[in-house]
Amino acid sequence: MSPMRIEPAVLDDLEDLAALLVDAVDGGASVGFLAGVTTGEAAHFWRTALVHQTWVARSGDRLVGCVQLLPAKLPNGAHRAEVAKLLVHRSARGAGVGSALMAHLEQEARAQGRWLLQLDTETGSPAEGLYVRLGWQQLGVLADHAVRPQGGLAPTTFLWKRLSAGVP
Ligand SMILES: CC(C)(COP(=O)(O)OP(=O)(O)OC[C@H]1O[C@@H](n2cnc3c(N)ncnc32)[C@H](O)[C@@H]1OP(=O)(O)O)[C@@H](O)C(=O)NCCC(=O)NCCS
Repeated sequence: MSPMRIEPAVLDDLEDLAALLVDAVDGGASVGFLAGVTTGEAAHFWRTALVHQTWVARSGDRLVGCVQLLPAKLPNGAHRAEVAKLLVHRSARGAGVGSALMAHLEQEARAQGRWLLQLDTETGSPAEGLYVRLGWQQLGVLADHAVRPQGGLAPTTFLWKRLSAGVP
């Protein structure tokens, strides 16, 4: 793989982000969509979702991954944010792209004063293992939380990470 760089997503990334999302769902990942999602539907999602802070990982000209930071909007959550849509193309997994995207996101979150992060992921997924290795704490498991891409209910694990001590 060519050297990887992480940068903010731009509108021109929309089609590649849609393809990335479809690739993840095709691979069985529980990321909000069901099997058979089309690139058109995925592009529709990203058209709205790109209002949120999104970073992409590029290898050469190729978009191989992404992640989003969703800051809490209410005044009592100015120190808080949610992590969403950590996706790495199946052809680029296992080479540190996901870890690098998370490290970048944490650095950005810290710089924005968002030191308490939360996310959720399918219980037992490779993603859960990655988060735990990156120091995330498991808050708990909610049974039957999400429908798997291929059907059937699956539990979701909620995780959190404190980037530094303190109050806003
Ligand atoms: C979860 C996900 C983002 C991880 O992306 P990734 O780029 O493969 O992540 P990393 O390479 O950083 O780490 C994954 C594994 O590769 C290993 N690894 C990291 N760097 C490596 C390197 N340079 N060489 C070989 N292996 C490496 C890691 O130790 C880790 O080990 P594991 O196989 O025991 O899990 C990816 O699997 C994915 O997109 N899954 C589908 C979507 C999804 O579930 N997203 C989460 C939604 S909450």
